[in-house]
Amino acid sequence: MSDTQPSTFEMPRPGTSPDGAPWSRRNFPPGILCIFGGAGDLSHRKLLPALYNLMVDKLLPQKFAIVAFSIEDLDNEKYREFARSGIEKFSRQKANDETWARFAPLLRFVRGSFTNSADYTKLRQRLEEIANEVGAGDNRIFYFAIPPNFIETCASKLNSAGMISRNERPFTRVVVEKPIGHDYASAKEINDRLAKHFEEDQVFRIDHYLGKETVENLMVLRFANAIFEPLWNAKFIDHVQITVAETEGVGTRAGYYEHAGAMRDMVQSHLLQVLSLLAMEPPRTTEANSVRDSKLDVLRTLRPFSREDVDKWVVRGQYTEGLIQGQHVKGYRQEEHVAPDSNIETFVSIKCFIENWRWAGVPFYLRTGKRLPKRASEIAIQFNSVPRILFNSAPRAPLAPNLLSIRIQPEEGLGLNIISKMPGADLRLAPVKVDFHQQSVSPEAYETLLRDILLGDQTLFMRRDSVEAAWQFIQPILDVWAETPVEPPMYAAGSWGPLESALMIAADKRIWRTLR
Ligand code: BG6
Repeated sequence: MSDTQPSTFEMPRPGTSPDGAPWSRRNFPPGILCIFGGAGDLSHRKLLPALYNLMVDKLLPQKFAIVAFSIEDLDNEKYREFARSGIEKFSRQKANDETWARFAPLLRFVRGSFTNSADYTKLRQRLEEIANEVGAGDNRIFYFAIPPNFIETCASKLNSAGMISRNERPFTRVVVEKPIGHDYASAKEINDRLAKHFEEDQVFRIDHYLGKETVENLMVLRFANAIFEPLWNAKFIDHVQITVAETEGVGTRAGYYEHAGAMRDMVQSHLLQVLSLLAMEPPRTTEANSVRDSKLDVLRTLRPFSREDVDKWVVRGQYTEGLIQGQHVKGYRQEEHVAPDSNIETFVSIKCFIENWRWAGVPFYLRTGKRLPKRASEIAIQFNSVPRILFNSAPRAPLAPNLLSIRIQPEEGLGLNIISKMPGADLRLAPVKVDFHQQSVSPEAYETLLRDILLGDQTLFMRRDSVEAAWQFIQPILDVWAETPVEPPMYAAGSWGPLESALMIAADKRIWRTLR
């Protein structure tokens, strides 16, 4: 194997660029991205549109090819048609003849079965031929867009076929999608198996929330502004709410969801990753492992749930039929491939605490659900109330406390609720909102993540210890639920979850935010 990497390939993270120039995100090493399951749904909806956008934005290596390895009966031409239909439907930027003429030749299809060793030999030969043709050298990225039970087989067959190099140059990288496991033990097993074939710095575990612009911006917000960090602690903050609300139901994914539920599907990954970025200590540097160390500390400092905590502070729910934006929708149990007596939760809310000096005593309320009234993800940081003196003295009703809301989607932005005097002779106070809306269209999460995989930057990917720490945190909840299988409280589609969730936070004399 020859080393074809340009000598300029050194990847400083933001802030480490010697001349303060924009992030060095354009020196892409050549290589081949090989997508296992490249003709599947994830590729169609997300990966191919994201790669297309990267090409349009000149964020792909110059010597590069995308090879789909899959069982479907396709060839290059048919695969290109499949890609084009995905791009037309799901891409942020639409294809025109000129851009398509540049993108299509990057795409190749190799037909094969994940379990057949001979197909891996064929794959290896094809990758070498394609690499010679486009000058991509020996760098390889294997993207496992496949069910988790195939990870071990694919990794070991790649290894037996001599396609995995543990060297830094030429590199082999592997990309795995969530869910990483079903519980702590299975996550550890998957990670152990990956570790048999790859070094940790070759493994890119995707949590697509980390690729969302506002989530990535959390660090910048906190550590590139002087005004937030001094207030970012238990002395000034009353509580934090993190909401990920979806209007969609389970759709066609019941096969997976019936064994997962909202706790595994959303809390274990997306919500805990967002929480750890929000609550972490300033990392030593912006380098990937420094950031990931700080995030890990948060997960390891979460107060473990006792059985009583689970009863008091964890609420699950399941949607019944109802109205979403005026449209009648089915209940979860009536969805296709869902058991008519399924007890799987489609909603979870929990209260948790981070036991360190910064956050001691501050409740973090997390909430997520399907078939809620609005698709909206938000972090809300509520500051302490002002003392009951001066403008806030009794018998007047207390003034609303300041609130910082960070909108992850759909309209990215930031709002700060403050109290202000209303114009006029009388001294009338009212809450007003300072609002910042992100104007430009942000790249999709998968664009950001694929770009970083091509560059070899692991900051936005989950390290194995963080995945396992997140499972360890929710494991006691899963254990209690498994011991006492009960029907979860029901909520009508189009409502904000079961009454129990409102009661859980009301017990602390607080309310959930209504996202509009
Ligand atoms: C996925 C979950 O990880 O995230 C889905 O498996 C969920 O159930 C999706 O719908 C939500 O992602 P987004 O980006 O639409 O908020």
